[in-house]
Amino acid sequence: MILCVGLTPTVQRTQRFETLTLGEVNRASETLTTASGKAVNVARVLDTLGASVCLVQPLGGDSGRYVHKNLPFPQEIVWAEDDAPTRTCCTLLGGMVTTELVEEASPLCEADRERLIACVQGKLPLATALALSGSLPPGTNPDFYARLCAVTPRSVPVVLDAQKEPLRLALAECPFLVKPNRQETIAALHLPADTSALACAQALCEAGAQNALVSEGKAGAVLRTDEGAWRILPPKITAQNPIGSGDALMAGLIFSHFVLQATLQATLQESVRFGTACAAANCLTLTSGVVHSETINQLLSQVVLESVQ
Ligand SMILES: Nc1ncnc2c1ncn2[C@@H]1O[C@H](COP(=O)(O)OP(=O)(O)OP(=O)(O)O)[C@@H](O)[C@H]1O
Ligand SMILES: [Mg+2]
Repeated sequence: MILCVGLTPTVQRTQRFETLTLGEVNRASETLTTASGKAVNVARVLDTLGASVCLVQPLGGDSGRYVHKNLPFPQEIVWAEDDAPTRTCCTLLGGMVTTELVEEASPLCEADRERLIACVQGKLPLATALALSGSLPPGTNPDFYARLCAVTPRSVPVVLDAQKEPLRLALAECPFLVKPNRQETIAALHLPADTSALACAQALCEAGAQNALVSEGKAGAVLRTDEGAWRILPPKITAQNPIGSGDALMAGLIFSHFVLQATLQATLQESVRFGTACAAANCLTLTSGVVHSETINQLLSQVVLESVQ
């Protein structure tokens, strides 16, 4: 089972507009409501691919009950002690641009945070890998992911998609792989603004990550391992909604590397190739963290893997 953990789930409203103008009345041509958040997206893509997953997350209020009901796989929920409602975020698709309206998550009280850690620890003996993703609620100590890494046995590889201090602090615990995007890496490690994805990946490994995957949208991603570095170029597609592509990338690589591994013996770079097809498939659906298996299979042969120095 792949154990997915995230502290900031959301109800996601995705609305499409013919044109979108700030300061005007804009009428949506289509509105979809889904459960989302980074860990939700990772778990949903893994579930679609056929992996056994368990998602640990805090929820509260009617919005939290909506998220819980709308996910078709096992979840371990820490219900907010004061029933603080789960947030709602909005994606506005207008013309060729995507606009995100992000609501801050409700703070998580100390007792709920400790219940979450205990819940993860209880599930770890059943886990093949641990996937940690997303921002932390306001007031959460930034060492949260570092703490989870520290209590995870060496036999359970940790894959982490985080930013800022939570990413920086977790690097010291040597997670198996980290997957920030290029801008997030530059901000977390205080690198010069023009640092390349390859140099970002190198810096993440020097700071402790065993492997680093640095994504940069439609330009693809760079993977750095002990054995070398690769640039992974995605298929050329017309994206409908790219939000959640990083989550689909992470889910795809975890599926290929830790679920299919026993039969496929895929190298990490091959697993990232599969993840890149999942990320492109996510771009082709209207809501984030939703992929179709047939699309992934069609796109896989168009992903290019190049060794870089
Ligand atoms: N327009 C696109 N066309 C094809 N592939 C794309 C496109 N945008 C993103 N991708 C794929 O998705 C991967 C992750 O994208 P990106 O770097 O935007 O992640 P991210 O910033 O973590 O996104 P999010 O946090 O919303 O999930 C890229 O490495 C690439 O393979
Ligand atoms: Mg991301």
